[in-house]
Amino acid sequence: MEQVLTGTKQGSIKQLLASTEYDREVTVRGWVRHRRGSKGVFFVHLNDGSTIQNIQVVVNEENTNENVLNQISVGACLQVNGNLVASQGAGQSSEVQATEVTILGPADPNGYPIQPKKHSMEFLRENAHLRMRTNTFSAVFRIRHAAAYAIHKYYNDRGFYYLHTPIITGSDAEGAGEMFQVTTLPLGNPPLDDQGAIDFKQDFFGQATNLSVSGQLQGELGAMGLGLIYTFGPTFRAENSNTTRHLAEFWMIEPEMAFYEQEDNHNLAEDFLKYLIRYVLEHCKDDLKFLDERFIKENNSKPTNERSDMGLIEKLEFVIANDFARVSYTEAINILLNSKPHKKKKFKFPVEWGIDMQSEHERYLVEKHFKKPVIVYDYPREIKAFYMKQNEGEEKGRETVRAMDILVPGIGEIIGGSQREDNLERLMQRMTEVGIPHEELDWYLDIRRFGSAPHSGFGLGFERFILFVTGMANIRDVIPFPRTPGNARF
Ligand code: 4AD
Ligand code: MG
Repeated sequence: MEQVLTGTKQGSIKQLLASTEYDREVTVRGWVRHRRGSKGVFFVHLNDGSTIQNIQVVVNEENTNENVLNQISVGACLQVNGNLVASQGAGQSSEVQATEVTILGPADPNGYPIQPKKHSMEFLRENAHLRMRTNTFSAVFRIRHAAAYAIHKYYNDRGFYYLHTPIITGSDAEGAGEMFQVTTLPLGNPPLDDQGAIDFKQDFFGQATNLSVSGQLQGELGAMGLGLIYTFGPTFRAENSNTTRHLAEFWMIEPEMAFYEQEDNHNLAEDFLKYLIRYVLEHCKDDLKFLDERFIKENNSKPTNERSDMGLIEKLEFVIANDFARVSYTEAINILLNSKPHKKKKFKFPVEWGIDMQSEHERYLVEKHFKKPVIVYDYPREIKAFYMKQNEGEEKGRETVRAMDILVPGIGEIIGGSQREDNLERLMQRMTEVGIPHEELDWYLDIRRFGSAPHSGFGLGFERFILFVTGMANIRDVIPFPRTPGNARF
């Protein structure tokens, strides 16, 4: 590892803990996680975020100013000069015998909310500005960083180009209408046109605009010139879903590949997911071990019928060791129709060909039936976006498109994608059917007009992936500052 320039001359706490160059003068800086004292000696656990491990600092009451001693409390930030020695205590490799302690920033013990005890996730969400100082959240965000890096590495190593697609757009890629508007028009008194509607011609961009719900449409333009591209950026959906799996602002990775057909798309998505899991298993061992223990504790406190039968690390290793199941939507519906919960009327929502599967259906397929990740493909045309490639020669009323969703245990949908409609006439016809004016997406149609080619892609919800690898239960706890209905604090 490179020498870290911030923190200490000798490197981070992570580096000091790994060092066996003892009996040398070092400086450490970090936040107090824990302190305990006995017989004139204080043991202070310092953490600087470089690792989940704390370094133990031994402070001798005799050679430390009383005022300083009093300010060594949980949450305070300290600089310690001292001697690096092999640790006497079990489980620690090295520790620091302090010669000089400086309080960089005290933390009033009566005011500092994050104490060394179990806090509820709700409480920590209300203190999102301080929750990075807990073991759980620092582990989650270190893993989030590692996964983001691995995503770039995966695509870069395979010849994909990172394409930056716009955040402000004039189109609704998913056609779901769940968009945040972007405007500089005065809200109380907007200019009106002849029909009395808001005149967006007078708006900043001369047209109505919104925050992007997906970079896919522009991603397709990229793939039709650069061949293989991916996007990785913030995505906005104004859906009023107060669930543990929805955010109003989330991050999505969207690869788009020229010349890929449906099955190539499935293969890439499965390989990509497994690579990311393997990367986290290899590079985030300490953090995963901590989260694994946490997961097992939480799991054991759940009612038996809701328990996962594997630990977190066990589940991740299982996922990379086994092929994903692959079934068509029609096969999936048949499995559901023949299932116990359907026959015993235990599903809240009805099951029949044509439904948009609810999460109870997806979770039955993944957790009860296949017991591993599942790729479901060839969905009914009516429930999917206009851009998906239509399958040919199907019975009327049973038309399908080359869509795919990847479902994983504990979460449900983690990836959505498809082969794209590359036939100009069929695409235009579908747009007419669902009411999208052709002139609005003229540029999108042009890539079918000029040099059209088969192409495919998918979107991975980054936070859903982080939920999966960390074993956290709520999507609000895997993004530093969650945006959900009614909540944009911090
Ligand atoms: O299935 P979706 O809507 O697909 C698309 O947006 C396509 N344009 C992707 C493509 O083909 N390029 O979204 C893709 C994924 C979902 O599977 C889910 O993991 C995540 O994005 N996602 C959300 N994550 C958090 N909060 C939300 N509100 C999400 N909506 C979708
Ligand atoms: Mg989807």
